[in-house]
Amino acid sequence: MTDYWKCFWLDHAKKSREADLQIQVLRTLNKQPIQPDVFASIVESVITLLAPNPDHTLLDLCCGNGIITRELAPKFSAVTAVDLSEEFTSQLSVYINNITAFSADARTVDFPAQSFDRILCYSGVQYFSESETINLFMKLRHWIRKGGLVVLGDIPDTGRRWNFFNSPEREGAYFAALQRQEPIVGNWYEPGWLEKLSLHAGFKSAKLHLQPRALPFQHYRFDLVLST
Ligand SMILES: C[S@@+](CC[C@H](N)C(=O)[O-])C[C@H]1O[C@@H](n2cnc3c(N)ncnc32)[C@H](O)[C@@H]1O
Repeated sequence: MTDYWKCFWLDHAKKSREADLQIQVLRTLNKQPIQPDVFASIVESVITLLAPNPDHTLLDLCCGNGIITRELAPKFSAVTAVDLSEEFTSQLSVYINNITAFSADARTVDFPAQSFDRILCYSGVQYFSESETINLFMKLRHWIRKGGLVVLGDIPDTGRRWNFFNSPEREGAYFAALQRQEPIVGNWYEPGWLEKLSLHAGFKSAKLHLQPRALPFQHYRFDLVLST
């Protein structure tokens, strides 16, 4: 992530203080918040990938306002939730008391080795540059317990970029924004690149998951599950 994204999110969190929770984390379709049943499908798909057990601990990195975290918390013994924005994390602890939420930059935050059984980063990796992502994977490998899983969800897929910028107007907006160094969406990743990086970072395997058809962004995003 460049400081562009840090400024973007801190500013957006402040500006969207009174907005719908989905708008706060920019989970929108045609600029409208996604519908509750669609959101329920997203949560269900995340739970399936995480395969939680009530004894497990979870780290939710880039948790936003915790709209997903709070759905996951009852399925875990303890949840640590981290986001850049204090505006966001301060909304979280009020929901469920097994959540410890605090604001920190995921690029610099640190935890002891083998702290978590599960780690989730949903719609977060796109805000990291390639070198920051490499660094992140090394840290994820350090923080995850033996036998644990890391779920990187909703990653924009380089190979399906034009499914998103799918008209001359949208292509134009894409290039103009890149030219200003204010990219729309963030960084796009090739699944194979992340799979190779996972092995380089010491994970045993990296499994690509195409998202279920019911998910609103499945035409240009994918999930990746790393195992130890
Ligand atoms: C699209 S929102 C997703 C929030 C949440 N994971 C969800 O899916 O509802 C992206 C979040 O990533 C956070 N973020 C971006 N870069 C970050 C960083 N370097 N460290 C911590 N949080 C970051 C933003 O503040 C924002 O809340």
